[in-house]
Amino acid sequence: MLQNIDKILEEARQFKAETKKEIEQFRILYLGKKGALSELFKNFKDVPADQKKEVGQKINQLKQFVSEKIDALQAGISEEARTDDSRDLTLPGPPVQAGARHPISIVRNEIISIFGRLGYTISEGPEIEDDWHVFSSLNFPPEHPARDMQDTFFIEKDPDILLRTHTSSVQVRVMEKESLPIRTISPGRVFRNEAISARAHCIFHQVEGLYIDKNVSFADLKQTLLYFAREMFGKHVEIRLRPSYFPFTEPSAEMDISCQICGGKGCNVCKYTGWLEILGCGMVDPNVLEFNKIDSKKYTGFAFGMGVERVAMLKYQVKDLRLYFENDLRFLEQFKAAY
Ligand code: PHE
Repeated sequence: MLQNIDKILEEARQFKAETKKEIEQFRILYLGKKGALSELFKNFKDVPADQKKEVGQKINQLKQFVSEKIDALQAGISEEARTDDSRDLTLPGPPVQAGARHPISIVRNEIISIFGRLGYTISEGPEIEDDWHVFSSLNFPPEHPARDMQDTFFIEKDPDILLRTHTSSVQVRVMEKESLPIRTISPGRVFRNEAISARAHCIFHQVEGLYIDKNVSFADLKQTLLYFAREMFGKHVEIRLRPSYFPFTEPSAEMDISCQICGGKGCNVCKYTGWLEILGCGMVDPNVLEFNKIDSKKYTGFAFGMGVERVAMLKYQVKDLRLYFENDLRFLEQFKAAY
């Protein structure tokens, strides 16, 4: 019996198993139901009592050896699987998708930077506002039809609370708490109750500017806007101011830039006028200064306001405003190189 066990041990030692299948054969041969070990355990009862201890130990050693060999073989296989990998480690890795700034952010940052060079600070304020900051202090009399120029989202329970329709409200807050002179721009999100189309959205972004000091004139406004237009669209851009109306400025104007697509000759983008409308502006109405406790005899100022989406549309020639809100990567990816 002892000799027999030694023989089995030697055979087990010699056994060569490399593949998964061979290792399984080895396991069945020794540890299987009809394998060598169960055979030995079966015959154990016939072992004379005085040899039982020695034989028992030997059988256990054999069992341990076989189990360990199986473990080692299996570990070897996974080791092999790791090294025998068909992956080519010299290949470049999978591409990592790089993000890009949203075109609205790119254009907003550019507007901020242009006015920054002229010494304008940035001011921000709440998107949920009250009537005073959005309308009343900006010279919109109660029930005045000018309030309908901007379709407003009101809060049902309290019509005094509304979503700001322009960031002029931020400038009112600046006039309230800052000392003169004031030279600031307010970028931010605004809301108007408009049907969504290629040219309008109920949420969009504005940058509005305010400059109040002694002797600020319309000529200063014009030069500031010309500088802005040329920095934004290129140095050959021409500007044109058309008389307009806003309750908070007097006189008021709308500014056009010469169409960059046709060079002013006329095309379907500028509707054959050679001009594209870009912003509203004017001299701050003395009423607005007085509402905000600024002496309109001593101080004058100008204000302007533009839609960031509109500027981006003109700059990138995107004809549908909705694209800015859809987050379609095929659209957004085109702006990777733009900053
Ligand atoms: N607040 C105006 C708007 O949202 C734009 C504007 C600002 C016009 C300042 C004139 C002066 O339409």
